[in-house]
Amino acid sequence: MSSELLTGIAELTTHDGPTPEASSRLTDAALVVEDGRVAWFGAAALAPAADRRTDLGGRAVLPGWVDCHTHIVFAGDRGAEFEARLAGRPYAAGGIATTVAATRAASDDELLVAARRLRAEARSGGTTTLETKTGYGLDVASEARLARIGREAADTVTYLGAHLLPDGIDRRAYVDLVTGAMLAAVLPFVDAIDVFCEAGAFTVDESREVLLAGREAGLRLRVHGNQLGESGGVALAAELGAASVDHVNHVSAGDVDALAGAGVAAVLLPAADLSTRQPLAPARRLADAGVPLAIASNCNPGSSFTTSMAFCVATAVLQQRLSVAEALWAATRGGAAVLGMDAGPDAVGAIRVGGPADLHVLDAPSAVHLAYRPGVPLTARVISGGR
Ligand code: NIG
Repeated sequence: MSSELLTGIAELTTHDGPTPEASSRLTDAALVVEDGRVAWFGAAALAPAADRRTDLGGRAVLPGWVDCHTHIVFAGDRGAEFEARLAGRPYAAGGIATTVAATRAASDDELLVAARRLRAEARSGGTTTLETKTGYGLDVASEARLARIGREAADTVTYLGAHLLPDGIDRRAYVDLVTGAMLAAVLPFVDAIDVFCEAGAFTVDESREVLLAGREAGLRLRVHGNQLGESGGVALAAELGAASVDHVNHVSAGDVDALAGAGVAAVLLPAADLSTRQPLAPARRLADAGVPLAIASNCNPGSSFTTSMAFCVATAVLQQRLSVAEALWAATRGGAAVLGMDAGPDAVGAIRVGGPADLHVLDAPSAVHLAYRPGVPLTARVISGGR
């Protein structure tokens, strides 16, 4: 047993209650980490003794980011596609095929090394929990391979066999594969199923079939919906009570009400919105209607090649009009809720006595600086499971 007392915490954001307002937010705080877990936190004047003592020098501490939407297992580069987009070519689902070809051609080792590099980059920016998806394999063996590698590179894996219809395959036959042999092959490695419900990808009926097969297999449901237009993905997520619908750029009033009524989370992906020049998701409208929110990086080579949750949080505050408290919650507890990792002794996204010591120390006296100093790398130290 070894313990470390962290002192000099100018502001401690815990997210230990049911809402940001009902959570402890302390100034001049201290915290004890013991065997990878938070053993105590409170006013510095009341801090207990520990084996070691580290003075954080007036810095802010918050829970590590929970990035609930990424696609980090891939090979290849789509910088040219990005550049063409800057010149006016719209983002389209079909670009995924470029990454599928490069990914199929890469070795296991190349994919794992590249995914771990992105995982390390994310961690260095404060991300202590990260989800990844399959979806750049699109045949049984390749999807199973990406699920297995994803399991080694990330904390949780989502099956996205229904990312794009591969060339030369009959639609009906592919949906049967996704819901049959491919699902069986990935099942040992995945916790959730996702579908790209969008023009150019899968219809609402196909998406429903995919999600119901996943539910039958015991998986959480996620939907890529309403990214490029009013695809029906949001309504489908509400109908099925999915854990989340991600993107949500084009929504009707009915969509917002349906999400709020069903308690389905909307995952904001602001880096993707900016990189694809889609309208930013209407975060303020969603929050005001009571829709639970999460913020994620959507790190992938096509629509959002960043691991920076700080960038996403700053954008959500400065351009999408969330308060700092709302954005911090969405990027930590909100993401944990989407992943089903916000309850029990190993819950992430919050600083709780007995919970994992996943801490993000900022080179700033308060978390407000994440929006106040946009673009400045403020991560001073990341503690993940006490390390
Ligand atoms: O979440 N929208 C679908 N999937 C990814 C992009 C994948 C790609 O373009 O390679 C996304 O944005």
